[in-house]
Amino acid sequence: MNDASEKPVRHWLPIAVGILLAALLALGWAVWKTEYAWRDAYGDGDMSELRAADPRALTAGDMTTFHKGFKPFGQSAENLPWQYEKLFDDGDGLFERPFQPAITKIRYNTRDGLGPLYNANACGACHFRDGSVEEPYTSGQIMNGIFLRMSVADGNGGWAPPAGYHSQLRDKAVAGVPPEGFGVIDWQEMPDRFPDGEAYSLRKPSFRVHNPGYGQLPAGVIVEARSAPRLPGMGLLEALDEDTLLAIAKSQENHPDGVSGRPNWLTDPETGKRVIGKFSLKANAPHLRAQAAGAAFNDMGLTSPLHPRELCLAGQTACAEAPAGGTAAAPDLSEEQLQALTIYLQLLAVPARRQLDDTDVGLGGRLFAEVGCGVCHLDTLRTGNSHPIKRLRGQTIHPYSDLLLHDMGPDLAGRPDGEASAQEWRTPPLWGIGLTRKSNHHTVFLHDQRARSLQEAILWHGGEASAAKARFMALNKASRAALIKFLESI
Ligand code: HEC
Ligand code: HEC
Repeated sequence: MNDASEKPVRHWLPIAVGILLAALLALGWAVWKTEYAWRDAYGDGDMSELRAADPRALTAGDMTTFHKGFKPFGQSAENLPWQYEKLFDDGDGLFERPFQPAITKIRYNTRDGLGPLYNANACGACHFRDGSVEEPYTSGQIMNGIFLRMSVADGNGGWAPPAGYHSQLRDKAVAGVPPEGFGVIDWQEMPDRFPDGEAYSLRKPSFRVHNPGYGQLPAGVIVEARSAPRLPGMGLLEALDEDTLLAIAKSQENHPDGVSGRPNWLTDPETGKRVIGKFSLKANAPHLRAQAAGAAFNDMGLTSPLHPRELCLAGQTACAEAPAGGTAAAPDLSEEQLQALTIYLQLLAVPARRQLDDTDVGLGGRLFAEVGCGVCHLDTLRTGNSHPIKRLRGQTIHPYSDLLLHDMGPDLAGRPDGEASAQEWRTPPLWGIGLTRKSNHHTVFLHDQRARSLQEAILWHGGEASAAKARFMALNKASRAALIKFLESI
């Protein structure tokens, strides 16, 4: 009888344990799925469009987009999990929609705090459709959309902003606060000829400050203008290992063309570590979080966890008295907002290459390598394995940049900036450059938009790029056109 009463217990115990284990597994899977799996940044959909594509079109591996519309620079990576899609959309909203000035000293909404001094009220006002905006810059006319930076010798061999001013001239201000001044451009045409006799002309800019709001600027002030770069693929550049950049710099040592790129070492504002700067035109920002917070602060006057206090200089009393949209503890841009903005930049996809089978494009690509453009505008790189977003790791990418500083000669000189000299600029990534007209309705290039076409951009190259430029100029007309057509296809 005992046997009969014990038997069912022996039968049910393993079943109950099995059910419990299965339930625990299901729970574990659900937790992994909702809390962790999405951090890979691959959604539930498949990657078949990218897997089926011609590999030559994949500019940025799994971060390539085949979007055919008018916003090729502003697309999220394909097949993101909804959690990242949401953060990307939040960041997109912060990027595109204007911020407002604070009305009272009490923080009253999440989109105020613009200024008191600023250059634009939205990231997208300068990075139009995640590229760059072109305003009609006519000689003698006040500039808008590209800003001026200023330096004067500090007497100790270094450089400083002019007394009473920020290094970046804020040309806008909230009501009651005088702007720091307005940028004016003067163009000078410089006609010249290729060795084969074809004529061209470059326009040389000079910049000056109209109506300086906080006292006369000293003689000898260096004024430089900077235009907003295109933003696709920023996350992949962030995911490049420092060793990769150091190896490139090493490979350029003793280069027969005199190319000698160097990394811009700087201090990470958050960790205090020495790191290589990758972002901004002189590679002065270590990562996208610092770049986004710096842009919000310097270009829009938004405080954030990285820049908790408004920057009104001594003598800028109206600025100091203007209502602020936040406090040091609750800045204009909250931690969550800064994170969303950073994720947005990290997950911006890169447009696929086009015209793969066009013979001129093929020829142009070979010439690009032959004349030596690819020494700095490096064709192929591989991202490292340490970026927090797994999707950005181990990708083979074609940014056409080495992210190093190069001396580009006196004609392109701006002002010294951190460790970068006046003549040094970071090689800008060229991926997507052929879609500038479609996306941004213009074809102006270089740090201050002085080049009116891709050809003019090449013709401004000097310094370390002189040999490559000379070889480009010595090509025949059809070959030059093929090289330009190649640029338009990437
Ligand atoms: C007033 C125009 C303007 C506004 C507004 C602006 N930017 Fe920029 N952005 C620029 C310019 C100019 C640069 C190059 C800066 C430099 O070289 O120091 C730049 C650089 C960048 C870069 C680095 C790109 C690269 O190739 O390294 C990123 C990322 C960026 N901005 C994001 C933002 C975000 C996010 C915002 C909004 C919070 C913003 N920007 C607002 C003009 C602007
Ligand atoms: C020594 C390194 C180097 C070489 C070689 C070089 N470039 Fe550049 N390139 C740069 C740098 C640095 C800039 C940014 C200069 C500036 O903005 O003032 C640039 C800018 C450009 C731009 C404009 C990009 C933009 O977004 O505004 C184009 C186009 C370009 N290069 C194409 C070429 C071509 C084509 C060649 C070969 C004929 C070439 N480059 C050779 C370093 C180089």
